[in-house]
Amino acid sequence: MTLPGQPQLHLRDQSLYLEDVPLAPLAREHGTPLFVYSEGAMLAALASYQRGFEGRDALICYAMKANANLAILKLFVNAGCGLDIVSGGELERALAAGAPPERIIFSGVGKTRAEMTRALEIGIGCFNVESEAELDVLSTVATGLGRTASVSIRVNPDVDAQTHPYISTGLKGNKFGIAHDRALDVYRHAASLPGLKVVGIDCHIGSQITQLSPYLDAMDRVLDLVNAIEDAGIPLHHIDFGGGLGIDYKGDTPPEAATLWQQLFAKLDARGYGDRRIVIEPGRSLVGNAGVCLTEVLYLKPGEAKNFAIVDAAMNDLPRPAMYEAFHQIVPLEARDGRTAATYDVVGPVCESGDWLGRDRLLDVEPGDVLAVLSAGAYCMSMASNYNSRPRAAEILVSGNAARVVRRRETIEDQLRAEQDLSQA
Ligand code: LLP
Repeated sequence: MTLPGQPQLHLRDQSLYLEDVPLAPLAREHGTPLFVYSEGAMLAALASYQRGFEGRDALICYAMKANANLAILKLFVNAGCGLDIVSGGELERALAAGAPPERIIFSGVGKTRAEMTRALEIGIGCFNVESEAELDVLSTVATGLGRTASVSIRVNPDVDAQTHPYISTGLKGNKFGIAHDRALDVYRHAASLPGLKVVGIDCHIGSQITQLSPYLDAMDRVLDLVNAIEDAGIPLHHIDFGGGLGIDYKGDTPPEAATLWQQLFAKLDARGYGDRRIVIEPGRSLVGNAGVCLTEVLYLKPGEAKNFAIVDAAMNDLPRPAMYEAFHQIVPLEARDGRTAATYDVVGPVCESGDWLGRDRLLDVEPGDVLAVLSAGAYCMSMASNYNSRPRAAEILVSGNAARVVRRRETIEDQLRAEQDLSQA
């Protein structure tokens, strides 16, 4: 059996283990659906970036939207990372995880005044600004507080990341960033505003990028701008190349982070920017292949056109197939002999035809068996919802032979707590 991209996941005596922890007993003890993450896999993914950055002035700001569990944030913060945030909620999580404020960067197209105020009060490292209107508001908010906001402007390099259109962000038609040919004017405007200090430039061209060339193209386009902006008398302290590096879901072969950065530094060196401070915002590539979601088979439903394996995880737990027709490998925790194998659509209990986790999968399963949905460390739990009033799953972090609960399963009381039925009003 091939287990794409998940080095910490392996079969021992026909049973699936994550690091040295057998998964079937975990599912029995904690129930399903259950997310299980490998600390070793996350640190190994980080180490690849760190190798690529050796001897350079670089800051890795983990894009916490990929997986914002506090224990995972702490792991990266303790390993020296900063955090890339996109909301006031993520800011509070970043602080709860102990992130030094100067290592927090605030991305996103729609920051509110309240979010700006809080971020300025605690002194975050940089606001990645995406529009002129936002520059004006940030300057006003900062001036009102008697502070200066450090800003970087997100430029849209207009390169095709060659990925799913919903997660491609660097083309002209996207809502993100400032158009390349307007960037210099916008920098001049930013430099003239009293509440702002221009410190950098940033871009992010998309997610699940598996080719090298879009990165190299984007870097060329950004460096052209750096040149022009500095010629105009606006020095840039750092260059932020965003996130986006892909992972192996289905035999995908993205470059290793270390290889990618060796190549990118070769270009930076060739163009004379090798000493510049580099910031990056990886999310998926640090956590995606470190996690699995365990789910129990509830029923088998043979049909004329299709067989269905109905499981207890659903689109509210694993929204990527429904949203992007994304592929996640699905494997049983304990292999059977294959004699009753059949092709199934693996579907959840949610009342939507879009509630599927995998299509046309050859599986030898019975009700009560537990399956692992692979590569579920990124953009699964962080995008999970309570649709159909389903409680969000529990999360476990594994290290060696230790398994610790890092989020308990949600209860119905958690869900009802914020609501009011008006009978007491
Ligand atoms: N920086 C910015 C400004 C971003 O918008 C993102 C992701 C990242 C960094 C991190 O990108 P990563 O390294 O994770 O590719 N929910 C989608 C992915 C959405 C990505 C949004 N932005 C999915 O499940 O595929």
